[in-house]
Amino acid sequence: MKVLITGGAGYIGTHCLVELMQAGLVPVVLDNLCNASPDALARVEQITGQQPIFIEGDIRDHRALELAFQAHRPSAVLHLAGLKSVGESVDKPLEYYDNNVVGTLQLLRTMREFDCHRMVFSSSATVYGDPATLPIAEDAPTGGTTNPYGTSKYVIERILQDWAAADSEAQVIALRYFNPVGAHASGLIGEDPQGLPNNLMPFIQRVASGSLERLNIFGDDYDTPDGTGVRDYLHVVDLAQGHLAALQRMEQPEAEGFHAVNLGTGNGISVLQMVKAFEAASGQAVPYSIAPRRPGDIASCFADARHAQEFLGWQARHTLESMCSDAWRWQQFAESRT
Ligand code: NAD
Ligand code: UD1
Repeated sequence: MKVLITGGAGYIGTHCLVELMQAGLVPVVLDNLCNASPDALARVEQITGQQPIFIEGDIRDHRALELAFQAHRPSAVLHLAGLKSVGESVDKPLEYYDNNVVGTLQLLRTMREFDCHRMVFSSSATVYGDPATLPIAEDAPTGGTTNPYGTSKYVIERILQDWAAADSEAQVIALRYFNPVGAHASGLIGEDPQGLPNNLMPFIQRVASGSLERLNIFGDDYDTPDGTGVRDYLHVVDLAQGHLAALQRMEQPEAEGFHAVNLGTGNGISVLQMVKAFEAASGQAVPYSIAPRRPGDIASCFADARHAQEFLGWQARHTLESMCSDAWRWQQFAESRT
């Protein structure tokens, strides 16, 4: 099966590439490299022994999409391309809606032209906003988003629902990721954000390596067991395998229409628990200070992961220890290159 992976050169995309190639699928990457480098694709080749097909192009460029579809005739699309920084989206809402929403519309238009009806979409637990109940199941209310990034994911889900309703052959699985962390066990691919990291795990990695002095923990007065924020951290290789399971599910009966599926472990981990786990896995100290709450943060967020098991036959398998040790191996590799 040939699969177009938009955003396939990025953090999650490269891990999906490895899983798809190892399962015998033929992925075709379309990426404009706005947040990725071709080096990552070379390292995917090192891991898999096969060179991924790569097209440098933008999902908003209809001609580039047409050429990609003409040349490769993919039977499904993994749609990962997008801008993903919450803070930046508040400052640049139009860029976020243009890239994420307009880009998705161009992609759907091209899929229709080329008779391609299958899409797996990178959605996010952010579509649930501040959840009323935990764990969060897929039928929980969506749309209470608090920033343009989150709203772009919500709007895209709505567009995909309407598309699926209008095309009886359409198959859409929106994967609502919880908090992807970690790296491939080879240590060759992972997340290497430019500048100061916004997210917890990359920040901890850089404190452990000594390139940042200390972690600010945003609040220790939440209504959680130790007062710090609780999230559902998920190993990126499990996440990538969830994409493979979604593609395989589309080959089976009753996959038509729009389906939202949580990808999480179902376990809530606090910031302090993550710091301790990382210290144990890396053997390094992670000094921290308690800082004020970060605006827009919620106390707790973790998945009801049962639907993924029932509908996709998928569940997360990696431990918190392996999330930390794989992230640490990658951090050391990433820093050795600079
Ligand atoms: P990433 O930035 O590493 O990967 C996104 C890729 O898309 C990059 O390689 C970038 O160059 C490419 N891209 C962006 N705009 C493009 C465009 N217009 N045309 C072509 N390529 C474009 O991010 P990631 O962490 O791998 O995330 C992948 C997807 O998953 C994103 O849609 C993101 O919103 C979503 N997601 C990520 C997380 C997370 O924590 N990483 C959580 C929930 C959802
Ligand atoms: C963030 C995004 C969310 C996105 C998700 C993807 C924000 C506000 N939300 O979620 O839209 O879908 O990433 O993974 O950016 N923390 C610290 N110190 C830090 C960084 C984080 O204490 O330096 C805490 C946070 O307060 C939170 C936890 O660590 O309790 C996780 O934060 P983060 O990794 O940024 O993820 P989310 O906020 O869950």
